[in-house]
This record gives sequence, structure tokens and C-alpha cells, in this order.
Amino acid sequence: MFAAKVFPGVVAPVAFFAALVQGYADPGSCSGSCNVHDPSLIQRSSDSVYFRFSTGNKISYASASSIKGPWTTIGSVLPDGSSIDLDGNDDLWAPDAHTVDNLYYVYYSVSTFGSQSSAIGLATSETMEAGSGSWTDQGTTGISSSSSKAYNAIDGNLIDVDGTYYMNFGSFWHDLYQAPMNSAATKVSSSSYNIAYNSSGSHAEEGTYMYKYGNYYYLFFSSGICCGYDTSRPATGEEYKIMVCRSTSPTGGFVDADGTACTSGGGTVVLASHGTVYGPGGQGVFTDPSLGPVLYYHYVDTTVGYADGQKLFGWNQIDFSTRWPVV
Ligand SMILES: *[C@@H]1O[C@H](CO)[C@@H](O)[C@H](O)[C@H]1NC(C)=O
Repeated sequence: MFAAKVFPGVVAPVAFFAALVQGYADPGSCSGSCNVHDPSLIQRSSDSVYFRFSTGNKISYASASSIKGPWTTIGSVLPDGSSIDLDGNDDLWAPDAHTVDNLYYVYYSVSTFGSQSSAIGLATSETMEAGSGSWTDQGTTGISSSSSKAYNAIDGNLIDVDGTYYMNFGSFWHDLYQAPMNSAATKVSSSSYNIAYNSSGSHAEEGTYMYKYGNYYYLFFSSGICCGYDTSRPATGEEYKIMVCRSTSPTGGFVDADGTACTSGGGTVVLASHGTVYGPGGQGVFTDPSLGPVLYYHYVDTTVGYADGQKLFGWNQIDFSTRWPVV
């Protein structure tokens, strides 16, 4: 950590070598408003406009005519904060956007950094337009945690399995969980269960995103340290990276490419630091009408700066030809 801070030049050759070995593509282009943390992407059905939600500014959002931009900031989803009665209800995180029954849903997290006093809430809109009245706060989904729970109820991600909904969530503690949801995807309907756990280190798995491709449900997640790189850089390799497990079932049995169960520390790296890209994570997967499956994420451009507010929107087309995602 201190070597990286005192001798920043040491980091570059190591990362460059890793890029050659791994062969990651550089992030796709982004123009306009490209500073984001924890992006979530959907397209509006009426006009195919792209909407991108992100952490900060009580869920900031922007629109564009393509994933490349130019992105134009619209405003906040919940400018008055959330009705959930927890600390952090004026600083909402980790949006997860979906279309459910012709309504636009954005799940959000209420918490404070490093705390298990957390809940996953929901805001809905008919149009996603700017202005008061566009979004309605539906309050908590009922997925919440306190220090008595094994998980931290943040970083929600909904998966629609032919009209049956599940919420994936979790961050550190016992890592990633899943909860069945009601038929409107508004409230939890029964108790949650573990779907991934890394007993090593600080159990640093979070930010799950599930995507179906072919016969498999792919469980993407961010592993490592997300934030604060400008003041405290983690040891090389312990910064955010994007990993994946898969299963033919959406509710369990996730394994990595070596066959290791993801409840036993498994996980295959999809995208890690390379070249001038550092700490990619907070990802999602989007089916673009012209590009096909796209992995999108935030990352640090080491030539720009390591602060959380300097993180940039990145994306890459996913090659699923081996049945494991490659970018
Ligand atoms: C598990 O934790 C260790 C130690 O932090 C880390 O090196 C490894 O990449 C993690 N694996 C997964 C699948 O999260």
C-alpha cells in the first residue's frame, strides 16, 4: 500500500504485464457525463433511450441515445431521500434498475459505510422523466439487516425468472444472499439463503448482478476493496475486480470455471486492473440491441485520479463463446 503511494511508477509495469497476460479490452468510449459509481443501465421501451443510474446525489441519473453517450445528467431519483427510517436515508447507494409490468423500478440501498444497519428500498416511475412526481418512493422491500444478521442488506439486484422474482444482495460479512420476492417484485416473500461466500481475508464480495445467457445463470460480483483509493490503496490485487460464477439454476449451485463452489470461495476473474484501468467493479450486464451482452462498470483511470468522485463509466462487449464471459 505504501509502496504504491510513495512510488506510483512501480505499479504501472506490473499492471501492464497483467494486461498482456489477461488480454482485457480497454473500456469502450464514453462521452458527456461519464463520472459514475455503481452504474445500472436500462432502456426505456417507448423510445429506446438509455437511462443510467448511479450512487450519489440521492441516486443520480442520466440519459443517452447509446451506451457511448453523449450522457446528459437528468437529476436525482429521490431528491428528498428515502422514507426508510435508518441512518443514510439521505445518501442512497447502489441502484438497480428494471422494467417490471410496464413500470420502471429502481432499487436502492440505505446504509452507512461499514454498517449492517441497512435496507433495500424501491422507487418507481411510469416514465423516468425529470421533475417532481416522476418517481414514487415505495420504501423498504423488507430486505434489511442489523448486527444480528449474517449479511449486510445492500447492493440489491433483481432477477426475473419467467415472472418469478428473486433479489440477490449482500456485501462482506457472509457475502452474497438471495431472497424470493412477491409477484410484483416489491416485497420479500420468504427468508434468504447464502449463494456465495469467501472465507478468506475480509470476505470482500458485494455488488452482485445475475444475468442469464443460454442455459446458465451467471452470478457476477465485485471482489475486493471498492473505495477510498486516493487516501488508502489496498495491497496489489486486493482492489476491486469483477468475478463470476454460474449455475443452471438461478437459486443455487454456483461454481467457478475450476468447479469450485462459490459458497466455498470460488470465483473466476472477468475483469481486473490492467494498463491504466484500476479497480473495475460495481458492474452490471446489459443486452444492447446492437452490441449484444455488455459488461458495464466503474473504474479508476490512473491518468485521471483515484478519488471515488473521479471514477468513470466503462463497458465492454462480452464474448460468451466458451460459456464463460470474456471481455
Ligand atoms: C477471496 O479473498 C481473497 C483474500 O482477500 C482474495 O484474494 C480472493 O480473490 C477472493 N476470492 C473471491 C472469489 O472473492
